[in-house]
Amino acid sequence: MPEIDIAPLASGPLTPVEAAEVEALYAAAFPNEDLFPLIRRLHEEVSDLVSLKAMAEGTLAGHVIFTPSTIEARPAGPRSGPVPETETAGRATPAALLGPLCVAPEHQRQGIGAALIRAGHDKLNSLEVAHVFVLGDPAYYGRHGFVPGSNVEPPCPLPEHWREAWQWFTLDPKLPAPHGILTVPEPWRDPALWTE
Ligand SMILES: CC(C)(COP(=O)(O)OP(=O)(O)OC[C@H]1O[C@@H](n2cnc3c(N)ncnc32)[C@H](O)[C@@H]1OP(=O)(O)O)[C@@H](O)C(=O)NCCC(=O)NCCS
Repeated sequence: MPEIDIAPLASGPLTPVEAAEVEALYAAAFPNEDLFPLIRRLHEEVSDLVSLKAMAEGTLAGHVIFTPSTIEARPAGPRSGPVPETETAGRATPAALLGPLCVAPEHQRQGIGAALIRAGHDKLNSLEVAHVFVLGDPAYYGRHGFVPGSNVEPPCPLPEHWREAWQWFTLDPKLPAPHGILTVPEPWRDPALWTE
């Protein structure tokens, strides 16, 4: 197994070289989805993004983003899209949204995904962010302690059969379980990202 080096990708616009490498990585790992526009926007618009790259022998082998978010009191009434920030009120609890996570096909099953998640959690710990949310395969994220069924709603309504894919992990089990709705920065507020 090659030596893996995990390092931050600085917030702010990706350099042309970074953009080309990240776009190629995601195209290889997600051939049926184009996540690069989201990644580009997150880098351009979210100042305190936790974006980590895994390098193996000088090439980009994996990448993950943890987006700073907050858990807000849930506004009353039904909704069909993201909750406008003006409608959320109350004491906000810091949290993070994990995703996307990606490992190059030729480097999968070498522990890189796990190492990226661990490194992100270490960084969040240092920022005193205790709650992490993800929309992803429970068979994978369950291996990393994520569980479905939290009392925090996703930023946009999910298809019913994705309920189990909305998962939570706490870095501080002594804290009370959070309640509310996850409020995310603008690039994540597109309902199309939360449905099939
Ligand atoms: C999912 C992904 C990030 C895992 O990265 P990785 O570096 O291969 O992960 P790790 O090496 O830490 O863990 C590999 C283990 O997870 C398992 N695994 C990978 N994807 C899985 C899934 N969707 N469900 C269950 N187990 C999964 C592998 O079978 C392997 O199991 P093993 O250790 O028993 O052999 C990577 O496969 C990937 O980028 N896939 C395509 C994109 C994707 O689906 N990303 C989001 C995940 S919902």
